[in-house]
Amino acid sequence: MIRYGAALLCRQSDFLYCVIFMDRCVLLAPAKINLYLEIIGDRPDGYHELAMVMQSVDLCDRVTLSRAGTQDIRLKCEHPLVPSDETNLAYRAAELMCQEFSDAYARFGGFKIKIEKNIPVGAGLAGGSGNAAAVLVGINMLWKLGLTSIDLHLLAAKLGSDIPFCVSGGTALATGRGEQVAPLKDVQNYYAVLAKYQSLSVSTPWAYQTYRKQFESTYVREADDLAARQSRVHSGPMVKAISNQRLEQISALLYNDLEKVVLPEHPKVQELKETLARSPQAKGVMMSGSGPTVFALAESQSDADEIVKAVRSALPDDDLGLWVAPFSSTGIRLVEA
Ligand code: C5P
Repeated sequence: MIRYGAALLCRQSDFLYCVIFMDRCVLLAPAKINLYLEIIGDRPDGYHELAMVMQSVDLCDRVTLSRAGTQDIRLKCEHPLVPSDETNLAYRAAELMCQEFSDAYARFGGFKIKIEKNIPVGAGLAGGSGNAAAVLVGINMLWKLGLTSIDLHLLAAKLGSDIPFCVSGGTALATGRGEQVAPLKDVQNYYAVLAKYQSLSVSTPWAYQTYRKQFESTYVREADDLAARQSRVHSGPMVKAISNQRLEQISALLYNDLEKVVLPEHPKVQELKETLARSPQAKGVMMSGSGPTVFALAESQSDADEIVKAVRSALPDDDLGLWVAPFSSTGIRLVEA
């Protein structure tokens, strides 16, 4: 539910851009999967140089932002694993906006943030990053800051590597530490089956640090070589398959370097991946981000449902969560409840 002081709305594709007075807004933050994740080298800031192809999928958290009436930032989320203090990225996003736009903060005060989780936590699906992106987009609306998507990307990059992508979503190439986002042609009409053991999560810093320990000798060191590797991905077969909208090709080119460290550590995830791959409807199977979620790509909702059925009967475990999510061409979107 969105409450307006005065209304002037214009619709652009699925987004509603609001240039009005609002005291509350509800946003959907979709999950992402990585169709491609290549670790290229080290960075002086301790992060890794990456080349990734990201895809939004329509499994969304719901983020409600309202004015607190005080200078406080208060965050509420019923999920037991989601903190409600400054260790939550969404809280930090609100703090960042209050610091960056101190006049607006002094004038309008703080926020109540309510997060309804549908995206599994600690899953490699950028759930926390999406919540933070929703807070940035929502505050831009509530305070009528008029920030462009470039402004929002720059703010997002201060908080985390995946957050710029989460702002705009769709299908995109992400380079640098992940924060440099170049949109690609939207991949439409396909489905992802997401599979995750609910009690299992993987720490992203652990995954990258372990990768560094094992594969540092393969890292590209020269700046020219680094740029060449990134542009090779940009003009490479995965991006071509995406331009051609060919699921078979995209599926054959799925890639994630972090599988090399996460799968040996978690044999159950390896087994889950193999089980998904055995389903004839699964066009391709890969781990997303630092895992432990694995996904299968499917051509239709009914194929995706068949995959779910096959995995359920092969692995009858109450701890195993399975979701069907269509590919989505949007990032954060404003909704009316
Ligand atoms: O940026 P974000 O907070 O999402 O990153 C989480 C962790 O993942 C970082 O602390 C770092 O250990 C690792 N990481 C990395 N290189 C990247 C992105 C993340 O090493 N490009």
